[in-house]
Amino acid sequence: MSHSGDQNRGSFSSKFGVIAAAAGSAVGLGNIWKFPYITGEFGGGAFLFVYLGFIIAIGLPIMISELMIGRRGRQNAFGSFKVLAPNSKWRVTGLFGVVAAYLILSFYGVVAGWSLHYAVEALVGNLSDRTPQEFEVLFTSFIEKPVLPVLWQLLFMVITSVIVLLGVQKGIEKYSKILMPVLVIILVVLVVRSITLPGAGKGLEFLFKPDFSKFNMEGVLSALGHAFFSLSLGMGTLITYGSYINKKNNLGKTALQVTLADTIIALLAAMAIMPAVFAFDIAPGSGPGLVFMTLPNVFQQMPGGQFFSILFFVLLSVAALTSSISILEVIVAFFVEEFKLNRKVATLLAGITTAIVGVFCSLSMGILNFPAFIGKNLFDTLDFLASNVFLPLGGLLIALFVGWYYGKKKTLQELTSEGKYKVKFINSLMWSLKYIAPLAIFVVLIYGILENLETYLKVEILPW
Ligand code: PHE
Repeated sequence: MSHSGDQNRGSFSSKFGVIAAAAGSAVGLGNIWKFPYITGEFGGGAFLFVYLGFIIAIGLPIMISELMIGRRGRQNAFGSFKVLAPNSKWRVTGLFGVVAAYLILSFYGVVAGWSLHYAVEALVGNLSDRTPQEFEVLFTSFIEKPVLPVLWQLLFMVITSVIVLLGVQKGIEKYSKILMPVLVIILVVLVVRSITLPGAGKGLEFLFKPDFSKFNMEGVLSALGHAFFSLSLGMGTLITYGSYINKKNNLGKTALQVTLADTIIALLAAMAIMPAVFAFDIAPGSGPGLVFMTLPNVFQQMPGGQFFSILFFVLLSVAALTSSISILEVIVAFFVEEFKLNRKVATLLAGITTAIVGVFCSLSMGILNFPAFIGKNLFDTLDFLASNVFLPLGGLLIALFVGWYYGKKKTLQELTSEGKYKVKFINSLMWSLKYIAPLAIFVVLIYGILENLETYLKVEILPW
């Protein structure tokens, strides 16, 4: 089964399989559910602009680094650091990753559960003949319920765990390969319908015309956090996947393709949603419900709308699934390799524990809706801590590790596959990893967190 390295580890079987799996991890709820709503929250074009800057200057270099670390170390996120930097503290980076995986998977499963529920709602015809206001109520009253969303979340976690249990090739690779292309097609259809709605122009303007007056450091931090979240970076997902990639794969090219695919899909999602938000007079800052409240209006206005809405929510669930398995895999690979657990036990343990936290997350939308941390409920707390603290911090450590500790020579060796490929970008890569990424992350992290505190405590901490 494996092309190289240790015989007991899985590996991806083809170049397309690698890209499908890595892109499958990157493309998920982050692109379709989260990106449009945080773009809406932080004022549209300005957010988009800063986000794209972070993707190019920081995201891509860190993605290359993670794949490199994993393929070189041939271990889970924690173990790969042990191999590459024996007897050092760098392995803590891998531990941060495992914690981040817990935080993310807990709320991720909740939203994926919403998506499954909406697929069924579409199927039984519940998403038609409604006004935009009715769609809002439909969504908010659903997520506040104490039982139904929890059941969907648990079902989603069961599916995730079963696929992870099947292992790398049979589980992860196979499903990613088929379903990603279909998702792109349906998004394109949606964009076409959405931008031809009366009044859609305002949405496109909101999305593409930067207005920095409504933009603040919280927005910058969210853009940074989301660049990590969306590309699956900063917590060792791509270290873990990198460890399953064979030595002949051109990692730089793979990273570029995955980054492009992820960014294009996020843009398509925003272009499907924002014009409709304005056409149906929905507030762009409506938060996590934006996709669920907006798109049913669009489906209603297109021929074959019911068919498309079923397909959309099924594919959204699938996109979520190819991401959630990559998150669970980080924890499972860690348990298997570091605690010598068998894969079944490790998967069960990881699946059950994340599902339990997830239940509380779901309940925090309704009966347990109280502030857990700086005024945010549990759901928002986990999202904030994971995306805006743990992932950038993990990314910072990864950049410092490759830039300053591991160094150009060995990095080049791995990226060229021992001389097989030309890696012209090595100097810019090292520049970003040594200076740009660490500095930018450090400043944005500190400043962004302080500004969040200011908003919460209603005091002035920062001089400006
Ligand atoms: N990138 C995934 C998404 O956009 C989420 C994710 C984050 C997956 C971190 C793995 C690691 O939905």
